[in-house]
Amino acid sequence: MKIAVLPGDGIGPEIVAQAVKVLDVLKSDGAKIEMETAPIGGAGYDAAGDPLPEATLSLARAADAVLLGAVGGPQYDALDRPLRPERGLLRIRKELNLFANLRPALLYPELASASSLKPEVVSGLDLMIVRELTGDVYFGQPRGIEIRNGERVGFNTMLYSESEVRRVAHVAFGIAMKRGKKLCSVEKANVLECSELWKEVMIEVSKDYPEVALSHMYVDNAAMQLIRAPKQFDTMVTGNIFGDILSDAASMLSGSIGMLPSASLDQNNKGMYEPIHGSAPDISGKNLANPLATILSVAMMYRYTFADLATADRIEGAVKKVIAQGLRTGDIWTEGTQKVSCSEMGDAVVKSL
Ligand code: IPM
Ligand code: MG
Repeated sequence: MKIAVLPGDGIGPEIVAQAVKVLDVLKSDGAKIEMETAPIGGAGYDAAGDPLPEATLSLARAADAVLLGAVGGPQYDALDRPLRPERGLLRIRKELNLFANLRPALLYPELASASSLKPEVVSGLDLMIVRELTGDVYFGQPRGIEIRNGERVGFNTMLYSESEVRRVAHVAFGIAMKRGKKLCSVEKANVLECSELWKEVMIEVSKDYPEVALSHMYVDNAAMQLIRAPKQFDTMVTGNIFGDILSDAASMLSGSIGMLPSASLDQNNKGMYEPIHGSAPDISGKNLANPLATILSVAMMYRYTFADLATADRIEGAVKKVIAQGLRTGDIWTEGTQKVSCSEMGDAVVKSL
């Protein structure tokens, strides 16, 4: 199994280093994995003048799975749009056809007090958001900024083909089947034709999954319901931009965005795995970041790409154990728990493995 390791920018290298320690343990236990590192994002721009250098893309193409840290930083904000770190991330998603983005939001009982919501609203939360990742207004053409009638206008195109909706629908129904058999499709069909089609295709695909209860919700209501009563949801499926926004909201239900992993999968379960948080330039280089989302992303890699559920469970179990032991990085620290650094947290997970 070949893993392309792309640490990226900001806290990316620090958190990825902890996940690599975990992979090293698995390797010394006999797992046949090979890792190779390459730059992406701002680091790609610094190394090769491109946020997704050709060599990085070919490494990622040749790999079975990609482990990514985070991209972006203030020093790159003034670059031309195509050279910005985020473009590297969007391009690798598109180039590798990673259309299904799985973003779980799971609350560890010990972290209930780290959530900004009341413990009774979030305790026991276990939600999976399936976000379409390679279409929508993120990639639709035409797009641009131009002069019309003597003033600048900016425009993007929200666009989904039925085949794009259908393939992510199948992924989402498949996941719902393995979970609580409840799928909520989120769109804005009261206003947008694009959403109207989305909803129609979801209903068509639902015929193949009679055991799954499909419901529909407008995105504004879904944002409200996620904060009001998040436990009503089991699996959600939505388009790229709605999923971007809702998954950030969902992440805070679980106390910290620093806890949540993600998987981005293609048709063959090849995947890119990354924490859902960003590069956190404010704490980068200080050994303060929470590496657990990245380590849990390795667990997802084992679950979805390597189909090795025992190892996935082992990694998740090790993380649960350090949480239960009371170890906390700053983002999830509360009175009475032990504050540790990024590398100490990594070491603790390795020990509990
Ligand atoms: C995410 C991020 C990215 C996105 C940015 C960095 C391009 O917010 O992965 O959610 O919008 O998809
Ligand atoms: Mg986002």
